[in-house]
Amino acid sequence: MTAINSVTDLTVEDGIGVLTLNSPPVNALSANVRDGIFEGIKQAQADDAVKAIVLICDGRTFIAGADISEFGGAQKGASLFEAQEMMENSVKPVIAAIHGTALGGGLEVALVANYRVAVPSAKCGLPEVALGLLPGAGGTQRLPRIVGAEKALEMMTSGAHVPAKQCLEMGLVDELVEEGKLREGAIAFARKVLAENRPLKKVRDLQDKMDAARGHPEIFADFRKANARKFRGFLAPESNIKCIEAAVNLPFDEGMAVERKLFMELMTGVQSAAQRYVFFAERQVWKVPDVPEDTAILPINKVGIIGAGTMGGGIAMNFANVGIPVKIVEMKQDALDRGLGVIRKNYENTAKRGRLTDAQVEERTALLTGSLSLEDLADCDLIIEAVFENMDVKKDIFGKLDKIAKPGAILATNTSALNIDEIATATTRPEAVIGLHFFSPANVMRLLEVVRADKTSKEVIATSMKLAKKIGKIAALVGVCPGFVGNRMLFQRQNQANALVFEGAMPWDVDRVLFDFGFPMGPFAMSDLAGLDIGYRKEDYEGETAKRPKQVRDELVELERRGQKTGAGYYDYDENRVAKPSAITEKIIKDYAAKSGANQRDISDEEILERTIFPMINEGAKILEEGKAIRASDIDIVWINGYGWPVYRGGPMFYGDTVGLKKVVERLEHYEKQMGDFFKPSALLKKLAEEGKGFKDLK
Ligand code: 3HC
Repeated sequence: MTAINSVTDLTVEDGIGVLTLNSPPVNALSANVRDGIFEGIKQAQADDAVKAIVLICDGRTFIAGADISEFGGAQKGASLFEAQEMMENSVKPVIAAIHGTALGGGLEVALVANYRVAVPSAKCGLPEVALGLLPGAGGTQRLPRIVGAEKALEMMTSGAHVPAKQCLEMGLVDELVEEGKLREGAIAFARKVLAENRPLKKVRDLQDKMDAARGHPEIFADFRKANARKFRGFLAPESNIKCIEAAVNLPFDEGMAVERKLFMELMTGVQSAAQRYVFFAERQVWKVPDVPEDTAILPINKVGIIGAGTMGGGIAMNFANVGIPVKIVEMKQDALDRGLGVIRKNYENTAKRGRLTDAQVEERTALLTGSLSLEDLADCDLIIEAVFENMDVKKDIFGKLDKIAKPGAILATNTSALNIDEIATATTRPEAVIGLHFFSPANVMRLLEVVRADKTSKEVIATSMKLAKKIGKIAALVGVCPGFVGNRMLFQRQNQANALVFEGAMPWDVDRVLFDFGFPMGPFAMSDLAGLDIGYRKEDYEGETAKRPKQVRDELVELERRGQKTGAGYYDYDENRVAKPSAITEKIIKDYAAKSGANQRDISDEEILERTIFPMINEGAKILEEGKAIRASDIDIVWINGYGWPVYRGGPMFYGDTVGLKKVVERLEHYEKQMGDFFKPSALLKKLAEEGKGFKDLK
């Protein structure tokens, strides 16, 4: 065995040079790995004992891409192109041996080998689009040459990790070898190549699929049209498409020049910076500084849920989906039956869409049982309370659970607003109490706010985070405060959305600005979708119990304009549920403003954006000051995964940094002068702005 460098070695086995990379965790193409490929292939070619070369990786995966953490820094060692050129121009056949995932630059390295073999569990993909990029090492020109323009469009704009069997069918992989025997299989394949005297096939020379697509611009036009909604706001998908068009229409080297130009544009742009930031933020969010990785994890083999409503049912599905039995408790038989019925319907609908088999529907529903008695939760390892938001009711339940639950069980509440420290006082074991704030629909939404109360134990936190991962959520650990992180910031946005309407903007103006910013819908369209009657109580504004004046929303509900479900809310809806601005809503708003003495005026889009977004950034800063979130990037994860914040803007805190905190503070102070304390910048925000820093500089 010859060590090429610290991460690469070369062994020669009966004429086959096996070049092995070992750079944990994922063999990303850092300078050492690139050097290792360059030098290793060079030496293998110079070695007369080597007749063919196998490139293989140790550890959990083949090369998973360029080293994202090196982006933006000065390049050291061999460039990726130099390493690829060395491989592609090898005078001896080169075989890439793939296990785990060959992704991005990793697949692009495999694409300059003459042949590719893989184990059945391997996956290949070009996921650069998810980082706001395109494959920048020839992938945009080579992939279509093997798989054709249509499949390349799918793969590159989705970033999908394609299973080896499919790769074999597409020709991307030449042969599958036995699971667990990649090295032997690849060597045997190399021998076959030699024995059969197979040519040194270069992907760049394949031309038939490009010729077939040339003269068919509709391939691209149709694809753009079909995906317009999905790609809205993102720059990278369109650049990926343009590169594939270049592959079809231009000679290889000219296509490469197009790829380089568009890659550099994306790489230096703010969207890719945001998406790369999110990649790391999604991994950081699991790390809790004062809860070490080796903290004991409590076994969760059975879950209890109190409440079979929309929330309870959705939560239950998460556990059944991963094979954990769930007992659901309701107060009345009909509510229980209804809840279990809705869950079954949900599963059956998924099966109808082909995403579950009938057998899976049965398996999952069999894991869900109902009960009318809290006592039946005695053997559960985790109990999640998901009843309506009322402190007395919740305390009563937790007091009872304290007596019923077995020692060591986790007692969780799904509250989205109530003080969990107070809920915990109803028990004699506050260390077992935690918030698990799921978002609706709970079986679909990726976000979980794990809410740590004053006395929650580290084991309970560690177990909750681990469990969140198991059920496919992304969990952010947050502290107890009104609305926690997500809703606390949402309140800021909603407050200003309402204020703007009071001052002269129409709901559709506010919605349009936020939609154009990248949210899937604005706050008023969202209210219409959710139903304006959620939380509506006439006694809140009428009669002796009144605690606030009547508002626009109340008027709409009184007119039976309860949102999409009644065909009207803030908007009018046609039979296809397409929203149109409503003259009735406009009149209600104008009358209401006149009655309240509001001085309605024209409001610019810029003001709408600043007044809805900047107070959120300010609130995020307060959350950090108070230690209710661990990192600014955790707040961004909450907003991207729970509230539709556009990922290409990196989350509210990243966006604040992009705008510049100095400007954010200036604008907040400008509005503070006009409208008062609501806009007062937090001490942290001011400090960072004065020091010319951003949230990214916080440690
Ligand atoms: N660069 C740098 N670090 C990387 C990395 C990469 N490409 N891929 C993963 N890592 C790091 C992660 O940050 C994480 O670090 P941590 O342990 O310190 O948090 C560690 O490797 C393990 O990663 P995961 O936790 O994600 O491990 P999984 O086993 O869940 O997933 C994976 C493995 C599927 C490879 C996943 O990490 C992944 O999808 N990686 C990114 C792949 C990618 O996007 N490649 C394209 C890069 S861009 C490119 O190649 C440009 C080229 O065209 C020029």
